[in-house]
Amino acid sequence: MSDAPFIDFEARWVVVPGASSGLGRAIALELGRCGARVILVGRNQEKLEETQALLPVGRARVVVQDLSSVGVIGSRMREVSREVGRLYGLCYCAGVVETRPLASFEAARFARMIDVNVTAGLEMARAVSRQDVIEPAGGALLFVTSIYAWVGMPGQLAYSATKGAMIAAARVLAVELARRRIRVNTLSPGLVHTPLSDGALRLLSDEQVKELEAAYPLGVGAPEDVARCAVFLLAPQNRWMTGADLVVDGGYMAR
Ligand SMILES: NC(=O)c1ccc[n+]([C@@H]2O[C@H](COP(=O)([O-])OP(=O)(O)OC[C@H]3O[C@@H](n4cnc5c(N)ncnc54)[C@H](OP(=O)(O)O)[C@@H]3O)[C@@H](O)[C@H]2O)c1
Repeated sequence: MSDAPFIDFEARWVVVPGASSGLGRAIALELGRCGARVILVGRNQEKLEETQALLPVGRARVVVQDLSSVGVIGSRMREVSREVGRLYGLCYCAGVVETRPLASFEAARFARMIDVNVTAGLEMARAVSRQDVIEPAGGALLFVTSIYAWVGMPGQLAYSATKGAMIAAARVLAVELARRRIRVNTLSPGLVHTPLSDGALRLLSDEQVKELEAAYPLGVGAPEDVARCAVFLLAPQNRWMTGADLVVDGGYMAR
């Protein structure tokens, strides 16, 4: 057994779309603590720079990109890799939610949600896993999904469909990319207070919010609780885990 710490990214680069806020920011910071260098992707430059300022100098780059412009993701990531060198991994945390019951389902709004929650994630995976972009020894891709891919929550029809799609797609990628030593997993969190979840909770009454929070045996999570699991899944030392979905939900789904 070696004395080296279990998790050490040894200055490898990980791309984190969604690093301007919530879970993505917490994951970027945890990656930094574990020795990774991080490419911080999102639309809000100021908030991306806030994340960058919390990381050691020289360990993070900001890439301002609207991921709903899916057509430019490939060329943008190639540019980034030309600047910084080979990339090791992707932690796709960008996401949007919109609460709508079936009666007010709208195809055009669903298509926009699919663009950010699914298509841009797959384009990112394609860009990062290119032979001339990823490290020759391989790497790791992780998609942040949701327990709502597994449990039905009224109003989350479109959101749940995008998260379930990503879990199914990640399993395919795990099998396709295994021969190049690229591992692919998903992480399904339960409720963590972030701008995204707080926006969705604002549609509920105080009573309904209390009831939802009480359904978490360990209480509602903190961004760091999710970040530590993400880092574990991405770690180069975690060599044999691929095609898996890790639920991190304080026991919500165990009830
Ligand atoms: N919070 C929870 O309870 C919870 C539970 C389960 C799963 N999740 C999932 O976790 C992920 C992160 O959510 P969060 O709670 O951390 O939400 P958040 O704080 O609202 O962060 C969402 C991130 O997505 C980015 N984003 C959204 N649309 C984008 C676009 N068009 N182009 C580029 N970036 C875009 C935002 O960046 P900009 O604003 O800079 O563009 C932001 O960094 C999401 O996939 C969400 O579904 C969250």
